[in-house]
Amino acid sequence: MDDFEREFDEVIDRRAVPALKWHRAVLGEGGEKLFAAGVADMDFRAAPVIRQALQARLAHGVFGYEAWPDALVEALTGWLAARHGWQVAPEQVLRAPNVLNILSIVAATFTAPGDGIIIQPPVFFDFADVIRENRREILTNPLLFENGRYRPDLAGLERLAARKEARMLFLCNPHNPVGRAWSREELGEIDRICRAHGVLVVADEIHADITLAGHVHTPFASLGPGAAANCISAVSPAKAFNIAACCQAFAIIPDAARRQRYQAESSRMNANKNNAFSSAAMVAAYREGAPWLAAVRAYLGQNLVLLRTRIAAMEGVELVEPEATFLAWLDFRALGLTPEALTAFLRREAGWAVTRGEAFGPEGAGFARFNFACPRSRLEAALERLQAALNAGG
Ligand SMILES: Cc1ncc(COP(=O)(O)O)c(C=O)c1O
Repeated sequence: MDDFEREFDEVIDRRAVPALKWHRAVLGEGGEKLFAAGVADMDFRAAPVIRQALQARLAHGVFGYEAWPDALVEALTGWLAARHGWQVAPEQVLRAPNVLNILSIVAATFTAPGDGIIIQPPVFFDFADVIRENRREILTNPLLFENGRYRPDLAGLERLAARKEARMLFLCNPHNPVGRAWSREELGEIDRICRAHGVLVVADEIHADITLAGHVHTPFASLGPGAAANCISAVSPAKAFNIAACCQAFAIIPDAARRQRYQAESSRMNANKNNAFSSAAMVAAYREGAPWLAAVRAYLGQNLVLLRTRIAAMEGVELVEPEATFLAWLDFRALGLTPEALTAFLRREAGWAVTRGEAFGPEGAGFARFNFACPRSRLEAALERLQAALNAGG
């Protein structure tokens, strides 16, 4: 066992800091007894190289206003080229406090009141919130679910994109919660449809760096110059390196005119300030984090093997096989419970605090999103409790 793996196995008290996943604000009354598997982060320490970079920055002791370190964009573009074969010119990269801020700014800047933004549920719930909060219309093109696998409804997308109010698509690539790493062919079709109908693609690629064995991530903008010109991408090391509370994000905007408009809105909202610790963490992640990332992906892969094996032996629940992310989309529809009864069953009988499926849209009813980025001993215990709950007559 290597040092990384030993660290992943360690059960760390995340309540020692106000970690959202383990917080009463998320878990509710009596939540301290539950296994927290909701919020999408990992229960592991960050990579030693990141912790060292933060310590070095802390030791400097002065925390006045800072510019972006020169090394940061180079580290980011180097990472995107080496890992994803995606060549990004440095001037296309704009900073942002986080990915949701990017989505909000692009909705406000590149659509007008009354315009519609397409989403493909079940999908990360904040997509709908961002659209609602910016007073735009939500246009839903639910994913198709056949033979245990999700795929985009391309005919539905074509119909929706043809509507005059359709101006933008929020694409989740890879897709939270169903775990698809969309294929080049699927993305190519989405690109074709969106360009044909003047729909701007906003590709949220925050989960890009956690693909599971045998799967690859294709950055939407890497499809070709046409796709890139009709795309704004949002990337961040927050998920893959588990630094969400100490991280910023990048908007990658190949089109120069759009870049200027984005910059102006970001400046109006004063959303373009720097954080010394985020900068240090991100440079370390992209420059030196690859070995740790390989180790965490291997550990997650082993967790997935355990999850798959145990779930296969249970009655009433099926795993929708994830290709990316550390999130498992579990199908409990065979239990025949209402969404409320399913949540109550998982909470009271299995001791699980998960994200309710219908939080991702009505298409998610009967499902739950289970975060498996935790020490293996905790995962084992959680699966045993679910097995016992189901045996007792879920
Ligand atoms: C698809 C997706 N986008 C964005 C976010 C949030 O990103 P940020 O914290 O950078 O706003 C999440 C977090 O769960 C996510 O899953």
